[in-house]
Amino acid sequence: MATTQTSFPVDQRHLKSFGPISTPDRLLLGPGPSNAHPSVLKALALSPIGHLDPFYVDLMAEVQELLRYAWQTDNRLTLPMSGTGSAAMEATLANTVEPGDTVLVAIKGYFGHRLADMAGRYQANVKTINKSWGEAFSIDELEEALSKYRPSILAMVHAETSTGVCQPMDGIGDLCHKYGCLLLLDTVTSLGGVPLFLDKWQVDLAYSCSQKGLSCPPGLGPFTMSSLAEKKLENRKNKVPNWYLDVSLLNKYWGSDRVYHHTAPVNMNFGMREALRLLAEEGLENSWNRHRKNAEKLWNGLERLGIELHVPVDLRLPTLTTVKIPEGLDGKGFTLHLLNNYGIEIGGGLGDLAGKVWRIGLMGYNSTPENVDKVLNLFESELPRFKQNFSVAA
Ligand SMILES: Cc1ncc(COP(=O)(O)O)c(C=O)c1O
Repeated sequence: MATTQTSFPVDQRHLKSFGPISTPDRLLLGPGPSNAHPSVLKALALSPIGHLDPFYVDLMAEVQELLRYAWQTDNRLTLPMSGTGSAAMEATLANTVEPGDTVLVAIKGYFGHRLADMAGRYQANVKTINKSWGEAFSIDELEEALSKYRPSILAMVHAETSTGVCQPMDGIGDLCHKYGCLLLLDTVTSLGGVPLFLDKWQVDLAYSCSQKGLSCPPGLGPFTMSSLAEKKLENRKNKVPNWYLDVSLLNKYWGSDRVYHHTAPVNMNFGMREALRLLAEEGLENSWNRHRKNAEKLWNGLERLGIELHVPVDLRLPTLTTVKIPEGLDGKGFTLHLLNNYGIEIGGGLGDLAGKVWRIGLMGYNSTPENVDKVLNLFESELPRFKQNFSVAA
């Protein structure tokens, strides 16, 4: 038998005894990821094909067309970035921000801060306006800031996952264009679950993720830009300072040239195609109504149990509900209790809301009345016991 000649003995120190992978059963009712739809998982498990295979090239076009439907946009440059939502977030800024551009970020939660951080890394002159975590911006507040700062881009989050607030969008696009600025919108926790009309709202740049309302695992970040945003990209004085996320390069692969840029995560795109197909099969309005109905069932049920919600009803997100942790209760302990004993994940608070709220997600495949009943039953049966046995005050 032939043996491989090596110069050194193989170092075995990192070699432990590893069994094949298996994962625990989890119902993911936190801020994301959400459970993937079984037929999406099946699509992910297909055998990979080449990223320039004609079959795959057709599939890419289908994914783009389905994304346009999901976002209600005709934008030519609509594609899934290889990476999570943050990669697509970064792509919106990397492609359009030039050093010294004023970027106004309307911050009302954790992900607004991330946008401001990223814009600064691309040497934007970052200006911010802030709302407390649980509120949304009024059109007057935005107009005041636009007229004061005259930014090239207004960036904001539609569905703030850290607070459970849905930003009303009426009139914001008009306002931005009146002030000659692009509108950049984070739709990570809204795509598929909350009404979104990118073209009607005149949104110029948007991004999302695969792992929430689309019922797919994390790994792709849908991205889109309007023709106005494309013009800003075309008129750049310098190259996009991020090779991987440069849409002018990526479009040579996603557009008609089909020139290799990077090896596409083909299986993730199989999953994305199936997730978007399922959304189209259900119909956007049906999906939005389902999310709304199940969220209302959760809100009413929690309120019947005497549990307070953090956000006023008119601003509440159907995909993510922030629930006030009752005074004196160990919120983190309770979420661990649900995870360890019932396999149910709900989230804790982030940033300003850390330790103050739980975050319950009902997204995509997981937005069902049965899942709402599971949560409500557990809150009803476990919370009082938990208060007695584990309360910080006790
Ligand atoms: C509103 C919002 N924006 C951006 C992100 C970042 O997405 P990812 O974690 O997929 O990179 C998240 C993640 O949950 C989010 O909720």
